[in-house]
Amino acid sequence: MSISRKDFLQKSALASAALMVSSMESWAINMPDKKLRVALIGCGSVSNRYLPQLKSSSLIEVVSLCDIKYERAVAQAKQFNVPNTYSHIDKMLAGVPFDMMVTTTDMQVHGELNKKALMAGKHVWSEKPMANTYAEGKALLALANSKKLRLWGAPAVVNSPQFAFMSKTIQEGKLGRIASAHGQYGHTGPTWSAFFYEKGGGSMPDLGVYNMATLTGLLGPARSVMAMTSIVNPERTVDDKGKIKVEAEDNAHILLQHNNNVISHVMCGFNYFDPHGHEAKGQSLHSIQIYGDYGNMRLIGYDWETSGVMLDTSWTEPPKLHATESEGYEWQEGARVTGESIIKGIEPKINVEHALHVLEIIEAARKSSATGKKIMLESKFKWPMV
Ligand SMILES: NC(=O)c1ccc[n+]([C@@H]2O[C@H](COP(=O)([O-])OP(=O)(O)OC[C@H]3O[C@@H](n4cnc5c(N)ncnc54)[C@H](O)[C@@H]3O)[C@@H](O)[C@H]2O)c1
Repeated sequence: MSISRKDFLQKSALASAALMVSSMESWAINMPDKKLRVALIGCGSVSNRYLPQLKSSSLIEVVSLCDIKYERAVAQAKQFNVPNTYSHIDKMLAGVPFDMMVTTTDMQVHGELNKKALMAGKHVWSEKPMANTYAEGKALLALANSKKLRLWGAPAVVNSPQFAFMSKTIQEGKLGRIASAHGQYGHTGPTWSAFFYEKGGGSMPDLGVYNMATLTGLLGPARSVMAMTSIVNPERTVDDKGKIKVEAEDNAHILLQHNNNVISHVMCGFNYFDPHGHEAKGQSLHSIQIYGDYGNMRLIGYDWETSGVMLDTSWTEPPKLHATESEGYEWQEGARVTGESIIKGIEPKINVEHALHVLEIIEAARKSSATGKKIMLESKFKWPMV
């Protein structure tokens, strides 16, 4: 769901956002019939979820695909009927013109690829993380702002009706004074690619990132972080490289301190037995729990594909299940929704400062675990989000 341009202009105090709206506005007014031309880079597992989403939009045209494993770009182009394929980003940027790049490659190259696209004048939607360090993320955002381009980072959890329900319930004070919250997400780890376990990978940017986005989205920016991370399984066998050494954390506990002395906790890892595995369907466990002194809420299923919220505010009545419909929300919709927002000249709920904040949390958690110290954070984003 998106707010109107008028609402956004009234609400937003961010100068950079105002700048962006003026660039989107000129697009929407000057080219009313124009479709957003999208190029996707990284034709692996998640492209199977992104491409049908992008192709489903009447406002978007997928013009090019790119992968350094070129045969993957060719195969996806054939399956999803995309006219142009490339084996390198430089060739794609010099090739058939497009407006927005969607980055779904290995995590470690997101920063450099996103920078190249922005330098070439393209808007960017990036899978998480949007950059590989917080400093790199800040520099990318400054670059995007200076070029009047849009940059966004996954995940899209703030778009779900369940997130909206939880946010409104908190904002309306139905839980009383918020004290504590918990998020957890884990499975036994991806089996197809080594990058998840190599330096720059890990369970925080792959899995914990969802809970961090949900908890900060609901409770506001974190002011400080303390964390412990570890490697539980030092060796893995994966499809692309066989037996590998695990270099990035596969087990992490992160404590976040928010405003008003609220404390939340995220637990994530690649060694969590869960019969639902990487798939969310049918998951009935609570992935997010929020406690106040008048009530509590538990989100059913993973936060990126949830099926409802249990709200408990009574000493006598049983808890009630709310927000059981997806209302069209799908976790892989981020690139489509943000791409469409450019064409429509509206501001989406997904917000790059929020993604940047989560990136700072991940980096701070690594630093806290390495030093045993509490790490203070500087980044903020516009909150509440819904
Ligand atoms: N697989 C999922 O279900 C899923 C879900 C949500 C988010 N993600 C995120 O999506 C991203 C990709 O994950 P995946 O599972 O699809 O990985 P994958 O290994 O299946 O695919 C990544 C693809 O990127 C290509 N690539 C790597 N470097 C490149 C470069 N420099 N230029 C062009 N192509 C390059 C690889 O050759 C590969 O085909 C990651 O950030 C991951 O966290 C994946």
